[in-house]
Amino acid sequence: MPEDCWGGYRSCLARSFARSSPPPPPAQQPPQAASHLAFSDKIKVSGPISVFQYMQTCLGAYYASKLNEGKTTILGEKGDFITSPELSQMFGELIGVWCYYELANTGHKGNWQLIEVGPGTGVLSRQVLGVLHHFREKGVSLHLVEVSDMLMAEQEKTLCGDNKGTDGTDATPYVRRNKTANGTDVYWYRQLKQVPSDFSVILAHEFLDALPVYQFKRVGPTEGDWREVFVDVDPDHSGKLRFALSPNETLHSKGLLPPAVRADPSIEEWEVNVDAGDFVSQMADRLTESGGVGLVIDYGHAGDRKRFSLRSYHNHQLADPLDNPGQQDLTADVDFGHLKSLVEEDMCVYGPISQSDFLNNLGIHLRLMKLLRNCTDEQQREQLKNAFRIMMSADEMGARFKAMAFFPKSLKEILDLRGGPSGFAGDAKGRTQSKSTST
Ligand SMILES: C[S@@+](CC[C@H](N)C(=O)[O-])C[C@H]1O[C@@H](n2cnc3c(N)ncnc32)[C@H](O)[C@@H]1O
Repeated sequence: MPEDCWGGYRSCLARSFARSSPPPPPAQQPPQAASHLAFSDKIKVSGPISVFQYMQTCLGAYYASKLNEGKTTILGEKGDFITSPELSQMFGELIGVWCYYELANTGHKGNWQLIEVGPGTGVLSRQVLGVLHHFREKGVSLHLVEVSDMLMAEQEKTLCGDNKGTDGTDATPYVRRNKTANGTDVYWYRQLKQVPSDFSVILAHEFLDALPVYQFKRVGPTEGDWREVFVDVDPDHSGKLRFALSPNETLHSKGLLPPAVRADPSIEEWEVNVDAGDFVSQMADRLTESGGVGLVIDYGHAGDRKRFSLRSYHNHQLADPLDNPGQQDLTADVDFGHLKSLVEEDMCVYGPISQSDFLNNLGIHLRLMKLLRNCTDEQQREQLKNAFRIMMSADEMGARFKAMAFFPKSLKEILDLRGGPSGFAGDAKGRTQSKSTST
């Protein structure tokens, strides 16, 4: 529970509010120090920092550097958390089939770009390219948007093996390029807006939840009784940080809290992810201008979450988000309802639907059965079944993750005829949740 203990820290507010809609970093900056000591020193000099600033600094440091404790990665079994494509090839294969099928339904002929934003270890892009290669798709090039040098190197290894890549120059929009073993061109960028404007299939899986959020808390019954959450040093426990509430409304609470949230007394806590909104708006502009489709899958909700979701993972365990700043993952649920509201006038938006419904509609059961039939190794069979359970069951990723797809309005007629895109079929008729499955 955040404390209201502002003391003499008001001067920090002016600095905190200097940027109301911070853009993503233009290039990998040397990460700001994100140790407990660095935060305490900063807070002692200039006062508590917003949760947004805290997350931004911690995540910048986390994704920029190799971790201590002898870790060489942050994802996968040896890292802090595992993602669906890391769990099983089934996930990326189904996304690959989705990309291929939706591309075919747009009627686009010729070259196109597969863009993945926040590609982690590169395993999802590798699985998707594997499917496209299987279907003999020749016109694709891969474009990855990544802030972390460490993960960029990992992605290059995953996708290009020993092929020798080259760095970009001041004259190129990309920072690095290489080729996969099958000869597909791969390019890396720091920001989505640097990727050339061309027909694209855009994927963002577990990307938006890795962006910083603002947090606001209701402190009374009236519409003006909201405070912003900050991070402060804990005067009672040396070496610890704690949450604190601003003494009054802040510019961020005034500018970012939707009137409907203020008016609903059942909502006590609210998070706003400004950068996620910025990403979805950029994606919508790009798809409208140059054509293509977008698919976002992430931890999230349809706009009905009434409590904070900020949490941390360390060595696959939930951890206190204020411990080990910069050395453990920080994540917050994505408000898909808000993202949809930003672009639905200009785009055809489908979802959010649960990951289990999405994968179920794409035929994950059939894929599991086929893989099990062809697998004689008992340990691998167990791994497949376990991955399926984690990705599909209601108390794990199946319900916590949601999928949402974005299409230009020019495709509305054909999408209506199809009853919605694959995986979302039926969503257009109002179905958002159905059976959740497990083996
Ligand atoms: C949880 S991982 C994504 C995992 C991956 N998509 C998968 O399916 O396994 C988050 C990714 O987003 C990247 N990232 C975080 N903030 C970013 C930003 N502002 N711009 C671009 N990439 C970012 C991280 O470096 C990392 O590659």
